[in-house]
Amino acid sequence: MKSSPVTEKPIADTPAQETVVILDFGAQYSQLIARRVREEQVYSEVLPYDAPWSEVERRNPSAFILTGGPESVVAPGAPHIPPQLLEAGKPVLGICYGMQDLVRALGGTVVPGEIREFGKAELVVDAVHSPLFDGLPTHSQAWMSHGDTVTELPEGFQTLAHTGTCAQAAVGDPSRHWYGVQFHPEVKHTEHGKRVLHNFLRKVAGISERWEMSSFIERSVESIRVQIGDARAVCGLSGGVDSAVAATLVSRAIGDRLTCIFVDHGLLRQDEARQVVEAFRDVLHLNLVHVDAGKRFLTALARVSDPEEKRRIIGREFVAVFEEEAQKIPGVEFLVQGTLYPDVIESKTPASKAGHKIKTHHNVGGLPEIMALGLVEPLKLLFKDEVRELGRQLGLPANIVNRQPFPGPGLAVRVLGAVTTERLDVLRRADAIAREEIEKEPDVPWQYFAVLTPLQSVGVMGDGRTYANMVAIRAVTSDDGMTADWARLSPDALARIATRIVNEVPGVNRVVYDITSKPPATIEWE
Ligand code: XMP
Repeated sequence: MKSSPVTEKPIADTPAQETVVILDFGAQYSQLIARRVREEQVYSEVLPYDAPWSEVERRNPSAFILTGGPESVVAPGAPHIPPQLLEAGKPVLGICYGMQDLVRALGGTVVPGEIREFGKAELVVDAVHSPLFDGLPTHSQAWMSHGDTVTELPEGFQTLAHTGTCAQAAVGDPSRHWYGVQFHPEVKHTEHGKRVLHNFLRKVAGISERWEMSSFIERSVESIRVQIGDARAVCGLSGGVDSAVAATLVSRAIGDRLTCIFVDHGLLRQDEARQVVEAFRDVLHLNLVHVDAGKRFLTALARVSDPEEKRRIIGREFVAVFEEEAQKIPGVEFLVQGTLYPDVIESKTPASKAGHKIKTHHNVGGLPEIMALGLVEPLKLLFKDEVRELGRQLGLPANIVNRQPFPGPGLAVRVLGAVTTERLDVLRRADAIAREEIEKEPDVPWQYFAVLTPLQSVGVMGDGRTYANMVAIRAVTSDDGMTADWARLSPDALARIATRIVNEVPGVNRVVYDITSKPPATIEWE
């Protein structure tokens, strides 16, 4: 997905709100820190450590958090905290690399460690009265991951905690409200990490405001109005939650000057297209263009069985259909997109860190490259679960707000091999049964669906021989789709799924369950 740079004017910064700026030194965990700060109902934004200082100031930060990073602070060319940070006179919490660089910048000493400490350690609090450790036991578990060590503290600093191998596991200068922790409070393995972050935000930095969705709605509606003015906007609906919520929010701001274009590629699950049309036209009364492009997509996909080729064709057709429709609407100047915060943060990842391409992802993103429209990205500071909450508050129906992740190319990548109307129909019916049965489980997995394989096998039904299709069921647990494990569905649920599919879906005589994790498999089969 194409995302705009993080340094663009954020949508929600119009009226002042207490903001924490997280300066990112390339940590694996920067998103997680932002996530945790939000969980404390404090508004935060992640900026690169070398963001222009004017960008930092524009957010009028109440406090700073400095993240960890992969470098050594003493290495030549290592990234360093901006000098203005120390002049700003605001509370600072440095985490890992962030702590070391704070210490270095203030004249302390950091040396490359002889032993690399990695994993769980027992954290012993020395300064039991420090606000940072308020409510913590003196001994608890903390997650460490560092090579360099602080050996000498700058003036005004004192040791607040240690571990068996790290004498300076937490340091601070209480008079200036500057603190550093060598452990990672943001990860779950740090037993009281949440409390440490809470203490920093509320007790050290004294942030009192609570960031709430209702105030987010008010602020963003206002700033969308300012951005779009009297112009018109279009939004591509995919059937997924992100574009649905973005469209609803923008319609609050500009009413029927927003047109939603739902490019129905005919590859959605059973009833989904109808639900999208109902929700937007009948419930939310949005200006909706429903383009029934199923035939066009199927024609373009005819006899194509290579997964990458399918993905490319669908992406290309989607853009073409969207563009054709958007051009019919006079006076359109803006394109609304459901870009989320993780996409924005990820777009800063250096290309060298990005992995091999496994699949060509298609979603509603990527359109602006070919269309000369201004971008409106009202969700670009939100995480997925916040988007769902926003959707609920905006009155979107539960069947859209709670929708599980679904690939942009839809069922085309779940009908293995060539895609035809008949095969899509078989898959839709099997998939609906699988979903219905899995949703009866006490723990509903993160994502679950049916796949129509190109295999046929022999079976027996009544007294007759059958030679028919094989359906595979995929159900996975995951946090973010990056890694996944197969869901331990109950044997009863699996039995019901198999029996019902074979009985109720003509053309299927065998059902198998996929028990591979990701990696080495992926979640989707294509
Ligand atoms: P994989 O199959 O790569 O999928 O393990 C990881 C997650 O991404 C979803 N997925 C897609 N989402 N456009 C999307 O928006 C796509 O082209 C696409 N392909 C896979 C998949 O359903 C899973 O949740």
